[in-house]
Amino acid sequence: MEITRNIPLMSPDITDQDIAAVTEVLKSGMLVQGKKVAELEETLAAYLGAEHAIALSNGTSTLHLALIALGVGPGDEVIVPAFSYIATANVVELVGAAPIFVDIDIRTFNIDVAQIEKHITAKTKAIMPVNEFGLAADLSMITAIAQKYRIPVIEDSACALGAKEGTKFTGTYGTLGSFSFHPRKAITSGEGGVLVTNDKALADKIRILRNHGIEMQNGMMEFVAAGFNYRMTDFQAAMLCSQLKRLDTIIEKRQKLAAVYGRELKNPKFSKPYIPEGKLHTWQTYHVVVDSSLDRNELIAQLKAQGIGTNYGAQCMPYQQFFKNKYKLDCEKLFPNAMLAYTNGLALPLYEKLNEEDIIYISNIINNL
Ligand SMILES: Cc1ncc(COP(=O)(O)O)c(C=O)c1O
Repeated sequence: MEITRNIPLMSPDITDQDIAAVTEVLKSGMLVQGKKVAELEETLAAYLGAEHAIALSNGTSTLHLALIALGVGPGDEVIVPAFSYIATANVVELVGAAPIFVDIDIRTFNIDVAQIEKHITAKTKAIMPVNEFGLAADLSMITAIAQKYRIPVIEDSACALGAKEGTKFTGTYGTLGSFSFHPRKAITSGEGGVLVTNDKALADKIRILRNHGIEMQNGMMEFVAAGFNYRMTDFQAAMLCSQLKRLDTIIEKRQKLAAVYGRELKNPKFSKPYIPEGKLHTWQTYHVVVDSSLDRNELIAQLKAQGIGTNYGAQCMPYQQFFKNKYKLDCEKLFPNAMLAYTNGLALPLYEKLNEEDIIYISNIINNL
């Protein structure tokens, strides 16, 4: 087949309005955590139906501060899915706690809720489900388990802004919900993140911790904690405020493109994603699992040679060198689904700039493999 298109795995859609919004901030001279950060926080909190939104420097810093604000530290355990982007487990290590890995449901790529309870111990200080690839984990069930054991839930919703279980947005089920604005997300500021919560005390603590431990007391700065610099710039916030205006359209476009894959992909060696009833998928990634008769890495190279960018979707985290050396877990035995998703998962291009013909073109190439 002749190569007629070059389709990267991702390409952010930055409009002239987004650029104008950034330029306005640059001209104003107020570059860090100013009016636009406040506007972003207000707009996102209202959109999601959360009481507080706190803008931070990226998704990893949101998860890091969520754990610190909840007092998770050395000797504690945090339940995480075995399959996610590595940041989910790294932040647990960074606060000195141990990630307790739980296998995933291979149909949804989310934590297998039936396996959570047996991993809860007296040391469990948080459950951190990931809403993988834009699909809500079983959040009602997870929060019910967490309530039973009085353990907070931190939702890693890095990839799932706008996704829902029932009528409620992801990020608002947990005590804290975290979002990332990395360029592969629905809206992006290059780097950026937001934490949402309904707990004012936690929100206040996070605001202090993101800004060098500063608290205003009687109009004066006091340094009340050993804080970080995890602030967002105002030009990043301006870019996000501009893109938030079209978030619903972006999600609709992604849903339409995903439906085209659903209709056009017919190669039986590629299993297509499953969408459980009652969940609104935002398709941060269209993730298929390839049959074990195919070599996934070779396939990535083959598709690249035909002008199509693909990659694996996420890692089996306990299988990565640092975690393998530290915890020495038998991943094949303990996390067969996370291993399958890691070794045979394939993320296909899906973003607003693509059109139906692009998806048909990609599907045809895959169907003819
Ligand atoms: C599930 C998940 N958690 C956390 C992160 C970290 O976010 P960031 O890259 O903004 O630090 C990512 C990044 O893509 C992610 O996919």
